[in-house]
Amino acid sequence: MKTLVITEKNAPLVVQEREALRISEGEALVRVHAAALNHRDVWIRKGQYAGLKYPIVPGSDGAGVVVEGAGWIGKEVIINPAFNWGNSLTHQHPKDFHILGLPEDGTFAEYVKVPLSSLVPKPSHLSFEEAAALPLAGVTAYRAVFTRAQLRVGEKVLVTGIGGGVALFALQYAVATGAKVFVTSGSPEKIDKAVKLGASGGVSYKDADWGTALLELAGGPFDVIIDGAAGDGMDELLNLATPGGRLAFYGATRGNPSHLTARRIFWKQLTILGSTMGSPEDFRAMVTFVESHALRPVVDQVFLFEEGEAAFRRMDDARQFGKIVVKIL
Ligand SMILES: NC(=O)c1ccc[n+]([C@@H]2O[C@H](COP(=O)([O-])OP(=O)(O)OC[C@H]3O[C@@H](n4cnc5c(N)ncnc54)[C@H](OP(=O)(O)O)[C@@H]3O)[C@@H](O)[C@H]2O)c1
Repeated sequence: MKTLVITEKNAPLVVQEREALRISEGEALVRVHAAALNHRDVWIRKGQYAGLKYPIVPGSDGAGVVVEGAGWIGKEVIINPAFNWGNSLTHQHPKDFHILGLPEDGTFAEYVKVPLSSLVPKPSHLSFEEAAALPLAGVTAYRAVFTRAQLRVGEKVLVTGIGGGVALFALQYAVATGAKVFVTSGSPEKIDKAVKLGASGGVSYKDADWGTALLELAGGPFDVIIDGAAGDGMDELLNLATPGGRLAFYGATRGNPSHLTARRIFWKQLTILGSTMGSPEDFRAMVTFVESHALRPVVDQVFLFEEGEAAFRRMDDARQFGKIVVKIL
């Protein structure tokens, strides 16, 4: 079978022919029709991820048809890439939890082997390319927005870095809930596209006074902030939160903040919420939400299998608006 492989740190992706996979009891074999990138795949290629192992077939997101697996043969599915979450709703199992695409080979291949418990019927209103875009970013945004930040109708929301995969789902969910949503981005064109998706406006995080500009644009502070960048923008996000506000953080694209103003947190009684992917319950609720609102993941570009390297470079350069998908014919 055809696979896309990261052979070593910083190496370009290569197409490799590998032996057919064999499944064990409790597993399924899925013929992947489309896979999607997450920033995680780029971190893994750069050698900046926990538990690195090369060679690895990357890819946490996939949609396809089950070819082996009790009770599922012939069904169109998406894969929940959060393996062994465990029994707690509050957090994943500290040791057993892992994500498809490291250490197990992932979805950038003609076939992928997954636990039967990770299979979820593909939402019927989505194409394979759209469905592949949903799992990892979709559940991460769902948990951050609803399970953690507990977004309520009519609240004012800020979603940062709107070109990102998770950020765009957060925008779509918040708009569908009836919230008033503002965004940041490094690109004015991406802000315009976000407005077409229902955002009320946005500012560039590259502007020196972006925080003040946001407060003016939104007419005051935010009830809920959803962020995946962290870094030195984080202290300003605390400034932009309303008293009693909630900040859900799911990533640190910009690294750790060099300082945080503690007084902002305790005086404004802020709640800072860490959020990572989602429980099986979050995943089910996310799919139900997407189906009931007929939401379609924003697909930035669909690459052919042989163009995998170009797909990775596009994400690394933050050129995308939405999910980068690789089609596997
Ligand atoms: N904890 C989890 O479960 C989980 C799950 C998924 C992702 N993550 C992490 O979350 C982050 C985003 O992941 P992703 O897959 O959505 O990545 P992505 O699609 O590559 O998006 C990254 C986005 O970050 C934005 N960005 C860059 N600098 C920024 C800044 N200074 N302020 C605000 N935004 C900035 C850019 O937005 P513009 O293009 O609009 O400029 C870029 O598009 C990554 O660090 C990833 O590892 C964590």
